[in-house]
Amino acid sequence: MSIKAEIKVNGKSYELPVVEGTENEIAIDIGNFRSASGLITLDFGFKNTGSTKSAITFLDGEKGILRYRGYPIDQLAEKSSFLEVAYLLIYGKLPDINEYNNFHDAIYEHTLVHEDIKKILDGFPSTAHPMGVLSSLICSLTAFYPESLDPNRSWDEVNLSINRIIAKITTFAAWAYKHQQGHPVNYPGKYDDYTADLLHMMFKFPGKEYEVQPVVSRALDKLLILHADHEQNCSTSTVRIVGSSHASMYASISAGINALWGPLHGGANQAVIEMLEAIKTDGGDTDKWMAKAKDKDDPFRLMGFGHRVYKNFDPRAKIIKVAADEVLEALGVDDPILDIAKGLEEVALRDDYFIERKLYPNVDFYSGIIYRALGIPVEMFTVMFAIGRLPGWIAQWKEMRENKEPIGRPRQIYIGENERDYVAIEQR
Ligand code: CMC
Repeated sequence: MSIKAEIKVNGKSYELPVVEGTENEIAIDIGNFRSASGLITLDFGFKNTGSTKSAITFLDGEKGILRYRGYPIDQLAEKSSFLEVAYLLIYGKLPDINEYNNFHDAIYEHTLVHEDIKKILDGFPSTAHPMGVLSSLICSLTAFYPESLDPNRSWDEVNLSINRIIAKITTFAAWAYKHQQGHPVNYPGKYDDYTADLLHMMFKFPGKEYEVQPVVSRALDKLLILHADHEQNCSTSTVRIVGSSHASMYASISAGINALWGPLHGGANQAVIEMLEAIKTDGGDTDKWMAKAKDKDDPFRLMGFGHRVYKNFDPRAKIIKVAADEVLEALGVDDPILDIAKGLEEVALRDDYFIERKLYPNVDFYSGIIYRALGIPVEMFTVMFAIGRLPGWIAQWKEMRENKEPIGRPRQIYIGENERDYVAIEQR
C-alpha cells in the first residue's frame, strides 16, 4: 500500500501504520501511538474511530450500501429467510440444504424454556417494559446453563448456546408481552416457521383458534432480516465490549438489548409511532413539528430521521417503505399515520436544515407502521428489533472471541479537580 500516515507533534514526526479493508476503507492504526508519543486520541461517541476489523457486515453510508457477508441487503430481504440470514451472519456462508435443515432443527429442539423462568417473569409488575423483561430473561440463561459462563468452552458448546438463545428469544419475547397483558402464556411449537411461531405465541388466546396469515409472518421475517446486523453500532459495540471481558454470550447479549432500548437507537421505532400519533392528535400540522425539530431550544427531534453513518439514504428504509405499502394493501389496513409519515418525509427531504445535515429517514421510520399493521403493540417494537439483531450480536461476539481481541478499555482526558486534601465533615 502506498498510503503513509504521519502525525507531527511539536515538530516531532511519528509515522503510523495504515490498515486497508477489502472495500478499500483505510484507517490509521493508533494502537502504539501513546507509547511512542505519550498522547492519546479523543473522539466523543467514537464518531471516527474503528474499534475492530470485521468480516461480517459492510456498509457505505455515503453510497447507501449494506451487505451481510458480501450479499446485498435487498437480495437477502427479497429472497432469503431470517434463519438462513442468521446462519450466514454467524457462520460466514450461506448454508446448503443439509446445513440449513440441521440448523433449523437444532433451533426447534430448544424453543421450550425452563418452567422456573415463569417465576422470574411473575416477579415483574405488569407495568414492566418488555425490553427490560427480555434482557433479564436472556441474562437468566446464565443461571439455567451455568456452563455457559466458562470462557474456555469448545466451539461445539458455544454453538449449542447459540442455538438455545436463537430458539428461546421468541418464547421470552412472547411471554414478556403476555405477562404485560396479564394473560396466560402460550408454548412454542405450533409452527415450524420462526416468525409464525412467535406470532402464535403472542396472539393466541385460550379457547380461541389463531392461524397466522403467511403475509404477516413473511413481512415480519423480512423486517427481522433488515435488522439482523449493522456492524459496530451502539448495541453491537456493547455486546463486543462486554464479551471482551470474557463475560458469557448470554450476559453480553443481555447488555446489548439494554443498549438497543434507548430512543436514539432501537427504541426509535416506538418513538416514531408515538411522534406520528402526537402529530395526528395535534391536527396533522407537519410544518409545526418540522419547526420544532429544527429549533435548537426545543429538545424534540424528528424520530426516525438521521443516522450516524448513512448520509445519503438508509437502504433498509427504502425497502421498508415499499414493504409498508405492500403489507397495508395486502391486509386491507388504512392507517392515517402512514400518510402523515409520507407527508413528513416529503417536507423533510425538501427542507434546507435536513438537506444540509444529510438527515434522511432511517430503518425505524417506516418499520413501526408495518408492525402496527401486523397487530404488534408499540411497546413490542423494540423487542422485534432485538430479535432481528440477535444473529448480528452473536456473529460479532463470536468473531471477537475467535480473533482473541483484547479487553475493551478506552482512555479519557481527565478534566476534574487536581489533587486536594480531604477535610473532615465537621470542618466543611
Ligand atoms: N431531527 C432533527 N435534527 C437532527 C436529527 C433529527 N432526527 N438528527 C440529527 N439532527 C441534527 C442535530 O441536531 C445536529 O444539528 P447541529 O449540527 O446543528 O448541531 C446534526 O443534525 C447532527 O446530529 P448528531 O446528533 O450530531 O448526529 P449523530 O450522528 O450523533 O446522531 C442519531 C445520529 C441517529 C442519534 C440522530 O440523527 C437522531 O437522534 N435521530 C433520531 C433518533 C433515531 O431515529 N434513531 C434511530 C437510528 S437508526 C436505528 C439504529 O440503527 O439504531
